[in-house]
Amino acid sequence: MSIHTSPVPDRRTSVVPMVSWQSAWSTERILVLLALGIFLIYGTFRAFENNLYDTTRVTTAFANGVVPHYLSPFYSPPIQNWFSLPFGLSAALFLLIFPGSFRFTCYFCRRTYYRAIFGTPPACAAREVLQRSRYTGEREFPWTLQNLHRYTLYFILIFVAFHWIHLFEALRFKDATGATRFGIGVGTLVFGLDTLFLSLYVFSCHSFRHLIGGVLDRFSASPLRHRLWVGVSHLNERHGLYFWLSLITVGLADFYVRSVCAGWITDLHVLF
Ligand code: FES
Repeated sequence: MSIHTSPVPDRRTSVVPMVSWQSAWSTERILVLLALGIFLIYGTFRAFENNLYDTTRVTTAFANGVVPHYLSPFYSPPIQNWFSLPFGLSAALFLLIFPGSFRFTCYFCRRTYYRAIFGTPPACAAREVLQRSRYTGEREFPWTLQNLHRYTLYFILIFVAFHWIHLFEALRFKDATGATRFGIGVGTLVFGLDTLFLSLYVFSCHSFRHLIGGVLDRFSASPLRHRLWVGVSHLNERHGLYFWLSLITVGLADFYVRSVCAGWITDLHVLF
C-alpha cells in the first residue's frame, strides 16, 4: 500500500502559491482598469466641454415649461457664477483638481492601482509579478506626495457641504409661470444618491478617522470624540465600497444633468 502525502511548501522560496491568486488578480485588474479608465476619460471630456452642466442655464425650453435646479457635481462649488475665469476656461478644470487629488491619494485607491495597474506589490505577502521595480513602500519621491491626502481632506469637506446645498436646491423647480415650487424629480433622487455616497466615502476616510479621534492620547477625556471615532471606524470598514459607489454616482449625477440639458431625456418630477 502506498501512502500519498501533499507536497510540503518550501518556505524559503514561496510564501503563497502564485496560481491561487493570479487569475483573481487578473480579473480585478481588468475591472479596475476599465472603471478608472472610463471615469478618467469621461471626466476629462466633461471638464473641457464647459457646457450642459446647469439646467437653469439651458436656453431651450423644457418640455412642460418646468425648470429644475440641477447643477452638475463636476461644476460645484459654482465658481463660474462668482468669478469670470481667465481665457474662458472651464470651472471644472480647476475644481476637479481637488476631488481628483483626494481620490488619487486615497489609501484604498492607492492600494487598488498599485495592485491592478502597477502590479507592485500585487498583494500582501505575494511575490512581485511584473518585476519592473522593487517595492519600497512610500518612502521615496514621488510616493511621499501621497501624504497630501490629509490636506486635500480639508478641501473635500467643503465640496461635501456644497453637494448637500445642491441637493436641497434640487428640490426647487421653476414652473411655467416663473414661480418657484417645491418638488422631487428623478434628478433629485440621483443627487441624493450622489450626496449620500460621497458623504459616506469622505466620512469613512482614514485621515478623517485620525482627525476625529486618532490624534488623541486618551479617549476618556473626550467621550464625544470617542463616540464619533467609533462611528467613523464602523464606516471605515466599508471604505472601499463607498469609494466605488461614490465614483459611480458622481459620474451618474453629471451624466444625468448633461442628458437633461441636452434634451436627451425629460426629467420626471412631482411638484407640490
Ligand atoms: Fe480613502 Fe481618505 S483614505 S478617502
